[in-house]
Amino acid sequence: MLRAVFPTERPRRLRRTPGIRALVRETELRPNDLILPLFFSETLTEAKPIRTMPGQSQLPVSAAADIAREAKKAGLGGVILFGLPTAKDAEGSAAYDPNGPVPRAVAAMKDAAPELVVITDVCVDEYTDHGHCGVLRAGPGGALDVDNDATLEVLAKAALVHAKAGADIVAPSDMMDGRVAALRTRLDAEGYKEIAILSYAVKYASGFYGPFREAADCAPKFGDRAGYQMDPANAREALREARLDEEEGADMLMVKPGMPYLDIVAKVRAASPLPLGVYNVSGEYAMVKAAAAAGMIDEKRIVLELLTGFRRAGADFILTYHALDAARWLG
Ligand code: PBG
Repeated sequence: MLRAVFPTERPRRLRRTPGIRALVRETELRPNDLILPLFFSETLTEAKPIRTMPGQSQLPVSAAADIAREAKKAGLGGVILFGLPTAKDAEGSAAYDPNGPVPRAVAAMKDAAPELVVITDVCVDEYTDHGHCGVLRAGPGGALDVDNDATLEVLAKAALVHAKAGADIVAPSDMMDGRVAALRTRLDAEGYKEIAILSYAVKYASGFYGPFREAADCAPKFGDRAGYQMDPANAREALREARLDEEEGADMLMVKPGMPYLDIVAKVRAASPLPLGVYNVSGEYAMVKAAAAAGMIDEKRIVLELLTGFRRAGADFILTYHALDAARWLG
């Protein structure tokens, strides 16, 4: 027999007034949930707008103190730093230069706004002349491939340099196997036991990184990243990656990209007790900005809906280029 749900049950009763809607709202979005990615260049003396990411710029290290104060004032949860060095080589050795743009920007930011959470991206693709996320060598078939274990050493050196500069959290984004354990071991051995690791645990080989590769000048010169980043078709593998990083000692996990991977965010949320982030990447940002510039969408409304969607799916925090705008809109 059919239960007479209607007219007794009327969900619209709880949508009747703004007050009632606020009372029953399930998901909250605050400026503190947002992390702003920043690109620091060693060569620039003034900000250089990034063509593919309207509203974002490559910054000189001299801008670090001001942007740190701005991020703090906006109430952001933190910032994450990427670097553009003067010179690149096959190993990406500029990634562990203590005078590189990231360590210098970290120091300036922690000096200007000590309470601001400063995270560094740990990867070598911005520092290698070939644009891959690691050291190359001939693989089993003879073709050049990223050497997993040799890369771990470079990553550990870079993370240590970031920690020494004052970073609160280091975030490996390379997708090498074993990098979380390698970073943890090195940081602990050098006395940086309290520096946390935010692992880009579940990172897909995505077309949505396109605009970033112009921003960070890190497009691979040959091939692609499918040999180390995940296949967009895989979901069970995400749980495996998350579990491995958790076991290796990650303090926080991340899923990347965001918009097409909300199912993955929800699955990782259910499988792991660790704080979970999601990266609303450059291609997602570029699409929103292009549609808004063309007058096709209401930017503010779309951005807040997107960010709320990430939170609803289970993300504790969101890395997003919209962070400062969204913080302003949230008041
Ligand atoms: C690698 C890295 C990338 C992004 C963050 N870290 C590029 C890549 O893996 O190709 C992409 C971020 C974005 O698209 O916004 N260092």
